[in-house]
Amino acid sequence: MKFVVVGAGTIGQLRAQSIRLNPATELVGVVDPVPAAAERAVAGSTARTFTDLRTALELPGLEAVIVSSPLPAHEEQVVAALEAGKHVLCEKPLGNTVESCQRMLAAAARSGKTLATGFNHRYYPSVKYLTEVVRSGKIGAIDHLRIFGAHDGLHNFRTDWQYKAPASGGGAMMDVGIHMTDLAVHLLGDVVEVYGVASNRILQVPGSEDNAVAIFKSPTGIPVTYHAAWTEWKGYRWYVEAYGEKGMVRAYYAPMFNLLITQERPGAPRKKSYQFHFDVMVREKLKGWTSTALLTFQEELRDFLGMSRGERTNLATGFDGFRAVEIASAVYRSTRDGQPVRLTPR
Ligand SMILES: NC(=O)c1ccc[n+]([C@@H]2O[C@H](COP(=O)([O-])OP(=O)(O)OC[C@H]3O[C@@H](n4cnc5c(N)ncnc54)[C@H](O)[C@@H]3O)[C@@H](O)[C@H]2O)c1
Repeated sequence: MKFVVVGAGTIGQLRAQSIRLNPATELVGVVDPVPAAAERAVAGSTARTFTDLRTALELPGLEAVIVSSPLPAHEEQVVAALEAGKHVLCEKPLGNTVESCQRMLAAAARSGKTLATGFNHRYYPSVKYLTEVVRSGKIGAIDHLRIFGAHDGLHNFRTDWQYKAPASGGGAMMDVGIHMTDLAVHLLGDVVEVYGVASNRILQVPGSEDNAVAIFKSPTGIPVTYHAAWTEWKGYRWYVEAYGEKGMVRAYYAPMFNLLITQERPGAPRKKSYQFHFDVMVREKLKGWTSTALLTFQEELRDFLGMSRGERTNLATGFDGFRAVEIASAVYRSTRDGQPVRLTPR
């Protein structure tokens, strides 16, 4: 499948690399208003560079576009690519408003092409382990989830669109928290009720919460406690915990590890095991976090090929991208009204 990548920054470079590493895909173009950025992504290949997506969409045989540009550019580019009949994988967050995401979903429905969202946390080794444990039934029926994602503040941002509303769509929930929201949706099938409180008392960026604490509910009433923060003194970290009738499983980063505790029946001995992902720890010490991101992007790309053939995969759909933004928006509404917000089931 022939691909164009739009936006050749930190993430776009890795997206371009993931395409070049896959024998079933070919990078034919990279779009960036900064020519040097696009040139870096295509170096040593026959792919062309562009400063404008419209021209790139005319490349012969082009079938798919990966949108890894700044968030405020997503909607226009996703819609243009879909209208040109291309499959699209768009980086998270899909859009900066619920309405923007809805317009992208409508364009996907009109085109009949695939729209997927780049929630690559689904592919982190500790999350894959947790997902497998939950799906295997090893910890029994799930009773509740605990989810947390955070970093230590505004020094993590290089440009305004990454954290200043309205371009960013909000604060911690739209940034580090959006992956965690998606993991709740991924593990439970969906989230249909949201109650929460978002605040910006510490960093005081207008419209961008530095903390959001919320409760989500799945369609069958399974609750999730959720916390997204920009004020985590320890620095970037996240965890997901699933608690079942017969045990619990945790996925943690950083360092990347899993904890699994199981008990066959009440009163029976508990089995506890840790799984440390030493390969990830060592590789990241030597090559940084982007080396792990690249591996997740390679897996996402393989699933994107499957999804575009109509197969069921672990990849987040366009609807999942919309849902994560809708959940953040519901927390804002709940903060304002002091009431839970019901979402329309999918
Ligand atoms: N999946 C993840 O874990 C993850 C992590 C970080 C960022 N992201 C997402 O990836 C996307 C890009 O983030 P980044 O950190 O690479 O940003 P970045 O600032 O490093 O790069 C953005 C690039 O886009 C280019 N650009 C600017 N306007 C453009 C336009 N209109 N069209 C095309 N290109 C344009 C810039 O010149 C730059 O090269 C965002 O959607 C962001 O939310 C995802």
